[in-house]
Amino acid sequence: MNSSLSDSPSTPNKLTTQTKEAVLITGASSGIGLALALQYVEKGCHVFACGRNEQKLNSIKGATPLVFDINDKDQIRQAALQLSTSLEQNDLSLTMVILNAGSCEYINNPVHFDGALFERVIQTNVVSMGYCLEHFLPLVGANGRVGLMSSSATYLPFPKAEAYGASKAAVNYLASSLRIDLKAYGIGVSVICPGFVKTPLTDKNDFAMPMQISADKAASEIIYGMNKGQSEIHFPKRFTYLLKCIACLPKAFVSRMLTPNADKA
Ligand SMILES: NC(=O)c1ccc[n+]([C@@H]2O[C@H](COP(=O)([O-])OP(=O)(O)OC[C@H]3O[C@@H](n4cnc5c(N)ncnc54)[C@H](OP(=O)(O)O)[C@@H]3O)[C@@H](O)[C@H]2O)c1
Repeated sequence: MNSSLSDSPSTPNKLTTQTKEAVLITGASSGIGLALALQYVEKGCHVFACGRNEQKLNSIKGATPLVFDINDKDQIRQAALQLSTSLEQNDLSLTMVILNAGSCEYINNPVHFDGALFERVIQTNVVSMGYCLEHFLPLVGANGRVGLMSSSATYLPFPKAEAYGASKAAVNYLASSLRIDLKAYGIGVSVICPGFVKTPLTDKNDFAMPMQISADKAASEIIYGMNKGQSEIHFPKRFTYLLKCIACLPKAFVSRMLTPNADKA
């Protein structure tokens, strides 16, 4: 096990000349995670590509697949053991962990609120992140960085997004708090807030998605932000700054603006 996160915040990670940087990405079998995995491989990093779909992970040339369900803590623990062995055997330093895996489901009937849906989304997008942090963080070297996938949906209250938005808002708080506590260990934390990105997740949406970008472009933005050590990586800027500006307006005005068919009410 990499000792840098053990008990001493100040022990620097000593790399040998052969030590190669490794990146772990959850949700690497599809969409943004897949684009991230491909770009990191191209940059010469050792990529641990995580997901449930083994076939898709195996097809990422040059990456090491780690097959596990983020909603199964025993599987996460097993994956961390596998990871630890692989890091040691291959003289790798885990410099980045990007917890990107997630799902999106909408609350279609607010009166008959679907509690099970709410639980599923919170479990996949937030609770699982806690277990991934528990098992993967001790393997991250000093000067490492953790990226937590949130969404620009957290800037405003969008209709039907009670579960998804709440899960990502929780990720924002988790990231802010973790950033403070990990500082002493030399580990940075970035929260990632994309606008609309074309992936299988958004292909299911039946509403307009302004300023949507490709998964490739999203991955480039994330890699840039992670390298620069940005606390909040948000993109595309024209879209995210617009949302941030609207969020500064009076709440009643914003609420009316975002209420479906408000003009007809
Ligand atoms: N697309 C957007 O516009 C957008 C915007 C803001 C934020 N995001 C966030 O970006 C992240 C990636 O989304 P995407 O758009 O790239 O979606 P995607 O193409 O559907 O990919 C989702 C990934 O998450 C993995 N995953 C889901 N549930 C899992 C589970 N229980 N265990 C293990 N892996 C699981 C999937 O892997 P397997 O199926 O192999 O398990 C898949 O690789 C999500 O957190 C999403 O909320 C997306």
